[in-house]
Amino acid sequence: MDRIIVRGSGPLRGEVAVSGSKNSCLALMAATLLAPGETVLTNVPRLRDVDAMLEILRALGARAEWEGEGAHSVRIDASRIHNPEAPYELVRKMRASFLVLGPLLARCGTARVSEPGGCAIGVRPVDQHLKGFEALGAKLQLDHGYVDASAVKLTGARIAFDISTVNGTQNVMMAACLADGETVLENAAREPEVVELAEFLLKMGADVRGGGTDRISIRGVSRLRAVRHRVAGDRIEAGTLLGAAVATQGDICVQGVDPAHLESTLDKFRECGAEIETRPTEVRLRMPQRPRAVRVVTAPFPGFATDMQAQLMAVLCVAEGSSVVTERVFENRFMHVPELQRMGADIHKEGACAIIRGVDRLCGTDVMASDLRAGAALVIAGLAAEGQTIVHRVYHIDRGYESIETKLSAVGAAIHRESVETVVAKAA
Ligand code: EPZ
Repeated sequence: MDRIIVRGSGPLRGEVAVSGSKNSCLALMAATLLAPGETVLTNVPRLRDVDAMLEILRALGARAEWEGEGAHSVRIDASRIHNPEAPYELVRKMRASFLVLGPLLARCGTARVSEPGGCAIGVRPVDQHLKGFEALGAKLQLDHGYVDASAVKLTGARIAFDISTVNGTQNVMMAACLADGETVLENAAREPEVVELAEFLLKMGADVRGGGTDRISIRGVSRLRAVRHRVAGDRIEAGTLLGAAVATQGDICVQGVDPAHLESTLDKFRECGAEIETRPTEVRLRMPQRPRAVRVVTAPFPGFATDMQAQLMAVLCVAEGSSVVTERVFENRFMHVPELQRMGADIHKEGACAIIRGVDRLCGTDVMASDLRAGAALVIAGLAAEGQTIVHRVYHIDRGYESIETKLSAVGAAIHRESVETVVAKAA
């Protein structure tokens, strides 16, 4: 019930560090199931999704906990997995839980995992994951919304994905690490989160080559070991903070991220007129004037990230001229459009395209987050709007942003959170 209150407060200025990558971290946590012993992950973002993954790992029998109050590191010991089942009530909280299927199948020879089902942004089937496991020789049964998988021993195979899928590539890559022989993944996803998982598996003793290309080969080994690993900075969080600087014509430096992980986003902000300097772990962005309109089509990495689409649309609402945003990765990822229109944005949707005519100024009002990135877009719009914007259903934002209001106020935003108690007290 928390809500975030934003006031348009002029150009953002200053330095801010991002947290570790949510999407990378979730896959690394699932991968710890592949080996006995204690893994320590550092630079872990304190997010609802990370808590959900810790809960799943504990339900499977692993010891999985934060290294103390407020810590940004977790300790996971998957020596004993006494119950390779991920139940619906846990999986429905967080789709990426489905990533435990590959490691469980490889390590235990059996797994029962609830199908994740669709979400606000699309149907999101897992057919490519299942295709990969079957190719490795697993027996699969779909039973009342669960995937029952078993294999005495997985065997390497050539798997060509019909569509580039991040979690599909990760899930099958993990399973193949303990299979007999070689597996080749064709049309594999090239996202930085896939590359980081490949690096993590290599550290654990796996034989993985080609991470970051669309052809990954994995030669199975008999066992893996637990390791210590620092999670990379969150490229989408970095892109979101930089987007807020573009929308407010600010000048900020975002630290703790590899600029190569968000090159397509930086290119688009340059097209909008931003001046960008990069160093190995930071990006400085200066926006000397009102953003220019652009055209963008979302695509798998290295294309423009669908997870940045809503935030860019918020920027384009106040750009000079008409922009066209085409969403090609998910079929229902324009839930933020009606909320931006409530703020006075001029957006016309046509199928997978949205045409945005930039307006001089947006007007603050009450808006509702429908999913994680849509929520972040509404916060950006609020920073570029006149008056006060109240963003409701903040729990969506908390799934992927660690205290977004603290990060933004560090660069001068007039933003704060109102907890449920405050809201109720105010209503009384
Ligand atoms: C990952 O989801 C991310 N999540 C998503 O981030 C991100 O939007 C997405 O990759 C694309 O970059 C995590 O890593 C936890 P996909 P994933 O499989 O792997 C279709 C965020 O905001 N598809 O690459 O589930 C699918 O429906 C989240 O942080 C199949 O048809 O996405 C989609 O249209 C949202 N069959 C397309 O492929 C399959 O078996 C790409 O999805 C798998 C996917």
